[in-house]
Amino acid sequence: MTTPQTFTMSVVLNGERRCAPVDRRMVLVEALREGFGVTGPKVGCMTGDCGACTVKVDGKVVKSCMELAQAADGSEITTIEGMGEDGRLSLVQQAFCDHYGFQCGYCLSGMLFAAEDLLDGDDDPTDDEIRYAIQGNLCRCTGYQNIVRAIRGAAEARRAETAS
Ligand code: FES
Ligand code: FES
Repeated sequence: MTTPQTFTMSVVLNGERRCAPVDRRMVLVEALREGFGVTGPKVGCMTGDCGACTVKVDGKVVKSCMELAQAADGSEITTIEGMGEDGRLSLVQQAFCDHYGFQCGYCLSGMLFAAEDLLDGDDDPTDDEIRYAIQGNLCRCTGYQNIVRAIRGAAEARRAETAS
């Protein structure tokens, strides 16, 4: 429904040009879910602490509860739905499956984006570096051990891919 508070938000979302009516008072995670119908980014704390709402905006990993939708108008946005390629999981997504790196999946978007961001800059991180990289992402289920294993596994897979 259009109201005086509504504007037409236009973005490239997971590689596709999309427009949707969005309330100016919304933050980005609300606009993505309610305006664009993309439900991968989750609403958690809404205070920037849990990381459940994480997406990429113009190549930068952001917590989408901390950004007004209007500020992201015209941006290129990637959510977990746009992470794989040609219908296949990314190496990091596959590693999370292989190592049981999630249970309910609520934290998963944030964990995956944090892991990819880490591995883009360092393809052989220590466990301490992995734990540091995901410190802004809270998981209520896994105890983190399998997440660290998954990210280590993803790093190995990336190195193997680069070497081949
Ligand atoms: S909902 Fe955005 S950080 Fe928690
Ligand atoms: S798998 Fe449930 S919050 Fe992380």
